[in-house]
Amino acid sequence: MTYGDILVAQGLVKSYGGVRALDGIGVRLRGGEVHALVGENGAGKSTLVRILSGVLAADEGVVRTAPGSRLAVVSQELSLFPDLTVRENLFPTGPPRRFGLLDRGAMDRAARPVLADLGLHLDLGQELGELSLADQQLTEIARALLRSPRLLILDEPTSALPLAAVNRLAGVLRTLTGRGIAVLYVTHFLDEVMRFAHRVTVLRDGQVALAGVPRAEVGVPQLVTAMLGGRPPVPLRRARAVVDRPPVVVLSGVSVPGRLTDVTFTVRAGEVVGVAGLQGAGHLDALEVVCGRTAISAGRVDVAGRGTPRSLRDAVRSGVAFVPSDRKRHGLMTDRTVWENTTTVSWLALGRGGAMPSRSELVRRTTDLTQRLRLRGGPYDVVARLSGGNQQKVVFAKWLATDPKIVVLDDPTRGVDVGVRAEMHRIVGELAAGGAAVLLASTDLAELTEVCDRVLVFVRGRVTGEVHGERLTEHALAVALQQAVPESGAG
Ligand SMILES: Nc1ncnc2c1ncn2[C@@H]1O[C@H](COP(=O)(O)OP(=O)(O)OP(=O)(O)O)[C@@H](O)[C@H]1O
Ligand SMILES: [Mg+2]
Repeated sequence: MTYGDILVAQGLVKSYGGVRALDGIGVRLRGGEVHALVGENGAGKSTLVRILSGVLAADEGVVRTAPGSRLAVVSQELSLFPDLTVRENLFPTGPPRRFGLLDRGAMDRAARPVLADLGLHLDLGQELGELSLADQQLTEIARALLRSPRLLILDEPTSALPLAAVNRLAGVLRTLTGRGIAVLYVTHFLDEVMRFAHRVTVLRDGQVALAGVPRAEVGVPQLVTAMLGGRPPVPLRRARAVVDRPPVVVLSGVSVPGRLTDVTFTVRAGEVVGVAGLQGAGHLDALEVVCGRTAISAGRVDVAGRGTPRSLRDAVRSGVAFVPSDRKRHGLMTDRTVWENTTTVSWLALGRGGAMPSRSELVRRTTDLTQRLRLRGGPYDVVARLSGGNQQKVVFAKWLATDPKIVVLDDPTRGVDVGVRAEMHRIVGELAAGGAAVLLASTDLAELTEVCDRVLVFVRGRVTGEVHGERLTEHALAVALQQAVPESGAG
């Protein structure tokens, strides 16, 4: 069945000052198809999305849409209001009205099935800011679906989602395309492209490297080659476990009310230890404890021989570097330059014994790391002008330039492209080889298997297992995470 073209764009050109973000791009979106859009960080994907959705004007080129086509966009950076309720976020402009009043019942009746399709069972009156990042991202997708669009554009919708939610989204997209809707799907996960997409377009440096090729005609290696333009991806180097090295992070019998129960583990110098869990399993709370961001109610914590960190600042003084997943909230001051963002870390770390590099040294190291990560932008660029993935590189680099003893990473490669992901993994491996203790959480199970020496599995606030050595595969992890959680009922 074919539904014809819903949007056709040709010859799009867009420059920001001297940067040519789009350099003559065309794309054709057909009804009933998921069209994947991939490319390295800064390739121009979000710029194209903004032009297609009409929030940004192109310098040249045309965008034509089928008459009466409603369009909904989920942008890369969350654009919800944390202080408003879920309901208010879902109906930001045109809530159903009855007798001139907001009809709460009608809103809820409209919203419930859409939320349920996405696996969200929320109190609609809850403040959005209280939800996890994953649920916020799903709420944003629900808001777009409630507009009943003929063209749905999703810019990296799954970067913060656990696998189960990605699978549900896949199901929702299948239903939508079955009804003739066109979907433009921006992602860095090439396995998702292979699973959901009917066609794929690859952008490289603002140009089209592969144009709307049917999925059946390409493989992941070809996509990578098209993205990188012949530049070989950086090979991975796996960190080795060093059994007789000193323990650097020790948790014994640690509890946090409602979040962690009797958690015990040790991370030694030179080790990369992963923590995995479904949403709310406690693995992220364990990282927060190490970073001094969550107080414990029982047990003992020792970070670098200095006991329990009382605050993030305290943890940083003990040699902790914390790379958060949510760069908007914790990672960056987006209205400041890359350079200013780098130096804030040195303020935090002031007072760390001996090891703290000077500010100029820190800037030099950050610049060094950002070059390795192919940051599109220099030290004096304002962070808000960098692409989403490039902002994440700045968060990563500014922290890892501090020469940390303990590195805590929460989804560090969220939103970065395959080449940069491999380079970040390599940098983590080098830090471990240099004696750092690394703790890594990731929504991407493949990442845990590629980078970690072993992975601790958390279920409902407890460490229920450890996967290591040859057993450390995505499959084994996925099974371990699901195991102790009954499919339905008892909870
Ligand atoms: N507001 C802006 N001002 C200046 N330059 C910009 C602005 N927005 C984007 N750019 C530049 O345009 C280029 C393309 O950016 P874009 O955000 O489209 O990349 P992307 O493919 O979405 O990358 P990512 O995968 O990192 O999200 C980049 O070099 C970026 O720095
Ligand atoms: Mg983008």
